[in-house]
Amino acid sequence: MDAGKAKHVVSELDAYAHWFVAPNPSHGGHYMTVTLFAEFADTGRIARDTATVFLRGAVPRDLMYDAQLAISELVGNVVNHAVPDRHRSSPGACRRIDVTYKLFPKWLFIGVADEDSTPPLLPMGDFYSPELVTEFSEAVLADSGRGLMITQRMAAAVWWTPKDGGGKTVWCRFDLDGEVEDGPY
Ligand SMILES: Nc1ncnc2c1ncn2[C@@H]1O[C@H](COP(=O)(O)OP(=O)(O)OP(=O)(O)O)[C@@H](O)[C@H]1O
Ligand SMILES: [Mg+2]
Repeated sequence: MDAGKAKHVVSELDAYAHWFVAPNPSHGGHYMTVTLFAEFADTGRIARDTATVFLRGAVPRDLMYDAQLAISELVGNVVNHAVPDRHRSSPGACRRIDVTYKLFPKWLFIGVADEDSTPPLLPMGDFYSPELVTEFSEAVLADSGRGLMITQRMAAAVWWTPKDGGGKTVWCRFDLDGEVEDGPY
């Protein structure tokens, strides 16, 4: 990350008392980890805003919007589903979410880590034939279980890894092959 952009990220991040950011310049790529807490009402918005700050000008615009949506879904899943492992939880404590960005010339990796070792239920493919969806859409279209499917459709890959000491990270990878557009967006 160049100095100007790093300064901008830091100034944006300072606006939020419950964020902290850990850029890691020791690797070949550009890394950033943002820690959020599931109990704050604006966590989803902050996750999207952080994605904008980090990715704007660094990836094609459409990819930035896809990444924002994926992050929103993955962070929303922690808020809605993560129950920290017993040994990591304490009464009244906020649930921690670490959003990691790893940006390389050809790939963007995004990881959303929580303190729950339960794996996400990753969809295995299309469950309904297109004919069925057209005729009986109200009956067959679920009103939940869509977030990871949407993420799978947008990203090149979605998977998860266990964390040492408990918890897990849900990862997605976007492939960078488009031109980065200049100008405001
Ligand atoms: N971070 C997580 N921790 C624990 N379980 C998870 C996590 N993310 C997903 N899951 C599990 O995987 C399932 C599928 O997630 P998905 O985002 O596709 O659907 P959903 O969150 O149930 O509904 P929707 O995203 O459509 O509102 C969830 O219902 C939950 O059981
Ligand atoms: Mg979801």
